[in-house]
Amino acid sequence: MYYSSDVIEEIRFNNNIVDVISSYINLKQKGNSYFGLCPFHNEATPSFSVNESKQLYHCFGCGASGNVISFIMNIENCDFVEAIQILASRINYEFPIENTYKNKNSSKKNILYDIHALAGRFYYENLKSEKGINARNYLEKRKIKNNTVIRYGLGYATSEWDSLYKYLISKNYSLEDILGSGLVIKSKNNKYFDRFRDRLMFPIINTIGKVVGFGGRIISDSKNEPKYLNSPETLIFDKSQNLYSLNFARKSGLKEFILVEGYVDVITLYQNGIHNVIASLGTAFNDNHAKFLKKFTDSLILCFDNDNAGIEATLRAIPKLSEQGFKIKVITLNNAKDPDEFIRIFGIDAFKEKITNAKSHILFQINILLKSFNLSNLEEKIMFTNKVAKILSSVNSEIELDVYIKEISNITGISVDAIKHDIYIKNNIPKKNAIKSYNKTINKKQNNYNAIDKAKISLIYLLANYKKVYKGVNTYITPEEFENEIYIKIVQNIYDLYKTKDFINLAEIVSYFESKEDQQSVAEILNLNLTFEDEKSLEKIVNDQIKIIKKHYIDKKITEIDDMAIINKLLDQKRKLEDFFIILH
Ligand code: UTP
Ligand code: MN
Repeated sequence: MYYSSDVIEEIRFNNNIVDVISSYINLKQKGNSYFGLCPFHNEATPSFSVNESKQLYHCFGCGASGNVISFIMNIENCDFVEAIQILASRINYEFPIENTYKNKNSSKKNILYDIHALAGRFYYENLKSEKGINARNYLEKRKIKNNTVIRYGLGYATSEWDSLYKYLISKNYSLEDILGSGLVIKSKNNKYFDRFRDRLMFPIINTIGKVVGFGGRIISDSKNEPKYLNSPETLIFDKSQNLYSLNFARKSGLKEFILVEGYVDVITLYQNGIHNVIASLGTAFNDNHAKFLKKFTDSLILCFDNDNAGIEATLRAIPKLSEQGFKIKVITLNNAKDPDEFIRIFGIDAFKEKITNAKSHILFQINILLKSFNLSNLEEKIMFTNKVAKILSSVNSEIELDVYIKEISNITGISVDAIKHDIYIKNNIPKKNAIKSYNKTINKKQNNYNAIDKAKISLIYLLANYKKVYKGVNTYITPEEFENEIYIKIVQNIYDLYKTKDFINLAEIVSYFESKEDQQSVAEILNLNLTFEDEKSLEKIVNDQIKIIKKHYIDKKITEIDDMAIINKLLDQKRKLEDFFIILH
């Protein structure tokens, strides 16, 4: 252990667990304990309790429990030694001198922290020196002010091959530790050279205030190199457990953070007084980021770049965040490619207005859908409402839901009732067993047919027996899609008959066929006596079967056709099938 047990106990004793935890979450006293929303899992009612007399916490929801040191380790994502350091600094504790490194891993980490602190200062000095003139000019061009440079510890890696390497060697660090920092790379012929050269340097600082890595931007755009290089993951740097500027965002006093894409976006916002801003570090925002971030906030505004990649990144981040229970809003920037450029062109007040008017992620997603579907086409309109219903089924509050539905109805002209109906369908999936028992009947009666034929036979049966099935599907599936000659003919006849009739006499259809064999096959289908449990199951069965039939038909066509353009179209149709759902009235 790195510290003696006396020291640890003294630090623990002087950090009252209620005070410490209160600085992270809201606690309310109830009897002998304090309660709040658990920071370690997503919940709506408080099940996280802190017992002051025992100096322990326990969550009745997720089972998390421990003392004040465990709390810090979990919430700050740090190890034991770091937790002790945080708690010590909280009470201005002075360590006795004889406490030296013993824990191997902690001391390794501390060495890497030291190397990064030195490297940060080294880069900073470069920026201020004669060698840094181009970098300073670049900063001026980007309107990054000197006090921002200081606040973010920006620096410059010169174009020399190994200046940082030599500097670290001169400070007596071992090769192993220097390589372990990720800042120096060993070449194939055993030469050592700096990872970052001729780049503007952005130190990445973790939540306990230590530099754990760097991002480096080229300053001469002519170079044939990636615009940004980032430190690799190391013993002290986990890319999904760090976010750029989180150390400052936490101190902003604001509960809602703005998530942007770039280092420079963060810096420009910060410089303009918006301190609750963060960015992920050269990696896409993932589930682990979301879990990690949940410890610090549960409300986010996404403001990614105004291009396809940015929109896609936003759409990908939303489910990850909502799964963790975040409240999510989205800002879309028009006429500027990113927040940095937006502020440069339109000013900070225009950006603040964007923050005030940020839309909920629901409306953002719906706007995207509106752009990708042509609502004057019936098929696409159905897919659109299905997608919308799927998005809305994640909304828990009735009031909120009503607002969205009205808004969507306004935009699309689809009636409020129709949208509600679709959401109802999305939320009322028939019982699995109902479908299973239907399929079982078909399997029993038609077990010498393959799955595709079974789907066809079953759909033909349902078409012949229920006009509502015909009304629902006749514009979506053509007789030709049933492929087999007899099936095509039956379906064609059914479609014709329903044009004038409400019920079909099944025996009539049989007599459209002249050979005995054909009559036999037709009668077999019409005689099936398939039953389903309720209307919901019928709807689901019909939709499942149409998908199977259409998919098979498309696949067959793809194998027959050589024209890539047509193949692409077919593949697109196949993808769209996923979101296809016909409602039977
Ligand atoms: P941007 O190119 O949008 O970053 O990439 P930026 O900060 O706005 O850059 P400027 O304004 O051109 O200076 C967004 C983020 O993606 C990562 C970086 O983290 C960057 O901040 N990135 C980008 C890389 O890791 N490598 C790259 O080559 C480019
Ligand atoms: Mn930019």
